[in-house]
Amino acid sequence: MNILSFPERKKRHEPIVMVTCYDYTMARICAESEVDMLLVGDSAAMVMHGHANTLPIGVNEMATHVAAVKRGAPDKFIVADLPFLAVRKGLPAAMEAVEAVMKAGAEAVKLEGIRGQQALVSHIVESGVPVMGHLGLTPQSVNQLGGFRVQGRSENERRRLRREARACQDAGCFALVLECVPEDLAADITQALEIVTIGIGAGDRTDGQVLVLHDLLGLITGFKPKFVRNYLDGHGLVLKALNHYAADVRSGAFPAPEERYAG
Ligand code: KIV
Repeated sequence: MNILSFPERKKRHEPIVMVTCYDYTMARICAESEVDMLLVGDSAAMVMHGHANTLPIGVNEMATHVAAVKRGAPDKFIVADLPFLAVRKGLPAAMEAVEAVMKAGAEAVKLEGIRGQQALVSHIVESGVPVMGHLGLTPQSVNQLGGFRVQGRSENERRRLRREARACQDAGCFALVLECVPEDLAADITQALEIVTIGIGAGDRTDGQVLVLHDLLGLITGFKPKFVRNYLDGHGLVLKALNHYAADVRSGAFPAPEERYAG
């Protein structure tokens, strides 16, 4: 997959498969998989670092995650999230953030929202860096949205999202993530745009789907959003393995003779 593949995939109605990835070991598995592309999302703040939202992660941590993913999956198309406020501190600071994640190994950057940053997106694109937009539930604006909730339910919001989706395309985005929006709105936007849309909680009529890797693997317990499907009971399997190991150490079953060095 490279930047030229996206319009082709839309034309051929071949769904694009994206998953988040944050570390080398998982990236190596993703590299062997049939997933098309990897998103080093700022959801790393929650999934990898245990924060309540995506706000605390910074550019340097994102670049570290990108570099690890690149080492594990050098041939996958990697998109790096620009974290909270990274593009809101003036052009030089924004371009430094872009430079950090691109030099760490990303093929493209993703940034949330478009209001007030259309010119910046165009500047990044004109600098040779593909940009993926992100509309709907934009987690970096959780404090303004009043929580992690579905967006685009009122007629006003629907109009605004359609307008902003068009603005992302006009600014030069090559793709657009639509998060937690009604399926008919996501379908309308997908039809109206020439660029690909990638949905998460946006129904089945977008040009692709993205899931958070740890959700997909069932590693996260507790609250499970409606749009998440667990393809594995990762939590149960890991817990079982850990308890098996603990029991073996306590019973003397581990290490076995073949797991020891002779003197
Ligand atoms: O950071 C992230 O994981 C994301 C996806 C939910 C699209 O932005």
